Amino acid sequence: MKTHTLLMPLDMHLHLRDGIMLENIAPLSAYSFSGALVMPNLVPPVTTKQNIIAYKKRILASVANDYFEVYMTLFYQNYSKEFLEDVEDEILAVKLYPAGITTNSKEGVKSFDIEAMRPTLEAMSELNIPLCVHGESHGFVMDRETEFMSIYEQLAENFPNLKIIMEHITTKEAVQMLERYENLYATITLHHLLLTLDDVVGGKMQPHLFCKPIAKRPQDREALLQVALNAHPKVMFGSDSAPHPQHEKESSGCAAGIFTAPIAIQMLCELFDKFDALENLQDFISDNAQRIYGICPEFKEVRLSNTPFTIPKIYNTVVPMYANETIGWSIDDIS
Ligand code: DOR
Ligand code: ZN
Repeated sequence: MKTHTLLMPLDMHLHLRDGIMLENIAPLSAYSFSGALVMPNLVPPVTTKQNIIAYKKRILASVANDYFEVYMTLFYQNYSKEFLEDVEDEILAVKLYPAGITTNSKEGVKSFDIEAMRPTLEAMSELNIPLCVHGESHGFVMDRETEFMSIYEQLAENFPNLKIIMEHITTKEAVQMLERYENLYATITLHHLLLTLDDVVGGKMQPHLFCKPIAKRPQDREALLQVALNAHPKVMFGSDSAPHPQHEKESSGCAAGIFTAPIAIQMLCELFDKFDALENLQDFISDNAQRIYGICPEFKEVRLSNTPFTIPKIYNTVVPMYANETIGWSIDDIS
């Protein structure tokens, strides 16, 4: 039997929702992760200090039994420096969505007018608040991320002291950008390391593998695997685990989002083991994020082994990726 231990695993891109959904799913992340960067795309989005504090309180209440560091984000709009100074202690980053690009993003940025955004982004640079970006244009679905590269260039060049995190990257073009600008970083999901568009729509359409940005070509997945398996120092794990109730996925007009939070650590172990790269998983799942964000979560140790684990068919109302399939690694215990 093979075993592997991970210390303080972090999920640097997580959707926890609110209300009953929050109560049902937050404990699943809190069980195995040390902490997570929580996305602000609620309805309405998280845009005030009061909302940040209240939402964090509700999250902590829903994970009462587990130690779990909750890193909050603010939904990007143009803000004054005074406002950002007032909220900086409550957040780890600001999350930018192009308006209408994905679930609950309609209050996002309508046009990338750099001059209009300058005061906010300069204030964030001065206060050292990272900018997390959902990088997609409104173009043809397979080209959306690549088309967004020119916006990343403008942001990186105009704000050289701003840490910019390209969230859930899916293309080889995004991977190449990491080398071009010192201030660009990236998160990568589990599902984009496993899937291509073929898995989503190549056979019967798979609603539980449908997300934004959509999985791309084999050569894109290959580029993502290269940097993840080698734990490129500018790359971090962010699951983008995005729960939707079963009836909103298995319907005409399927909601975008793949639910991976409870299976991500086990599947990453399986994947890194398959490529003989288990020794790099610690950097990918925790140490890179600690260094990039300057965070230091409390101690948590997750012990795994290559014992088969059958993924549940459903967690409350949410169907996980690979439901009812058996994977090669499972969590033995956590302390
Ligand atoms: O597939 C996605 N689902 N992509 C996102 O960017 C948002 C997320 C959600 O909130 O459901
Ligand atoms: Zn997301």
